[in-house]
Amino acid sequence: TGFVTLDQGFVNTASTTSSITYIDGDAGILRYRGFPIEQLAEKSTFLEVSYLLMHDALPTPAQLKDFADKIRVHTLLQEEMRSFFSGFPRDAHPMAVLSSAVTALSTFYQDTLDPLDPEQVEISGIRLMAKLPTIAAYAYKKSIGHPLPYPDNSLDYVENFLRMTFGLPTVQYDVDPKIAKILDMLFILHADHEQNCSTSTVRLVGSAQANLFASVSAGINALSGPLHGGANAAVLEMLEQIRKDGGDVNAFVTRVKNKEKGVKLMGFGHRVYKNYDPRAAIVKKAAQEVLRSLEKPDPLLEIAFQLEEIALSDDYFVSRKLYPNVDFYTGLIYKALGFPTKMFTVLFALGRLPGWIAQWSEMMTDPATKIGRPRQLYTGFPERDFVAIDKR
Ligand code: CMC
Repeated sequence: TGFVTLDQGFVNTASTTSSITYIDGDAGILRYRGFPIEQLAEKSTFLEVSYLLMHDALPTPAQLKDFADKIRVHTLLQEEMRSFFSGFPRDAHPMAVLSSAVTALSTFYQDTLDPLDPEQVEISGIRLMAKLPTIAAYAYKKSIGHPLPYPDNSLDYVENFLRMTFGLPTVQYDVDPKIAKILDMLFILHADHEQNCSTSTVRLVGSAQANLFASVSAGINALSGPLHGGANAAVLEMLEQIRKDGGDVNAFVTRVKNKEKGVKLMGFGHRVYKNYDPRAAIVKKAAQEVLRSLEKPDPLLEIAFQLEEIALSDDYFVSRKLYPNVDFYTGLIYKALGFPTKMFTVLFALGRLPGWIAQWSEMMTDPATKIGRPRQLYTGFPERDFVAIDKR
């Protein structure tokens, strides 16, 4: 009914109004609730930013403590959930484990799944914030055959995750505050990005009034794709490949420009940014500092610098306004911190979680919300008559 327009990939169509995140793609501006990403990355913490996204205001000290305390008491998984991790094959992709476990959470909290009850939504959001790092750490532990630790609630959010990931019962493990600080900052940079593919997925699933766990699990699956969050792992694989092939960056760029099948400059380009992604600028600087301060020089950083330099002065990339995006340099940092490539997109998911929750909650409380139901332009057969099977 009515006039249907085609906008493949939603290039020009807004799916919602939102007061959470502002992007000016031409100017390279990103703000959460009005606050510039540069200020938040430098001065705030991930939990504070999570509160900001979910509540539309920076927390007072008392509000922040209350928020952190609520999350702290929910970090444990139900004991039965631990057996899920032994059921997956050891080489399972941690993103698949993550989304499965998030769906599974809904089986344990059936009394608090009502998407229209703000109290139930709040506790579900807290549970997700508290348990996703535990699930993520277990997905990693499982992949290397290590025992699953319990959370240590005397630690703060990121420290707890790092200890669960890298600690072992047999050796004393002290979290390096420098590493915790860097990871916290990277989580801030990933915390929201308005109506990207995974967030739109979270909203679309939620628009059918599916519960928060089901919606976030769908978002994790969307994020896993290499054109979205999976790009951070794809960038590192690309850099490794270039190094293995002898480090000829120009040759690789030529393959990209010739549009060889499956060859893209991963970590470059963005639907909205037609200028330098402001997050990429912060990550690039951090990558240099981290590799220097941890004394972990990486030849891949040099390859990344060269790629960027060549691309930024090459007409193919300049005319298409292709700049590095957030995923271009993050992998080098994650690698220096000790994470295997398969875990990179999981780290993105941990950072994006408060954004998904905030966007989903905004939709649920907006009286204008309707079920998401795109239209199509039909290109199939006109009406034709059924033919009995013996006549075909
Ligand atoms: N390498 C080479 N060419 C590219 C690239 C790239 N990374 N990105 C876009 N192009 C070309 C594309 O082939 C097209 O050329 P032409 O006009 O000749 O057909 C032109 O630039 C416009 O690209 P598009 O595919 O129409 O742009 P889009 O808005 O649909 O896609 C994108 C955006 C991010 C999916 C795409 O740029 C891409 O695939 N980048 C690589 C993957 C990546 O880094 N993703 C992370 C995105 S940022 C964080 C996140 O969401 O996770």
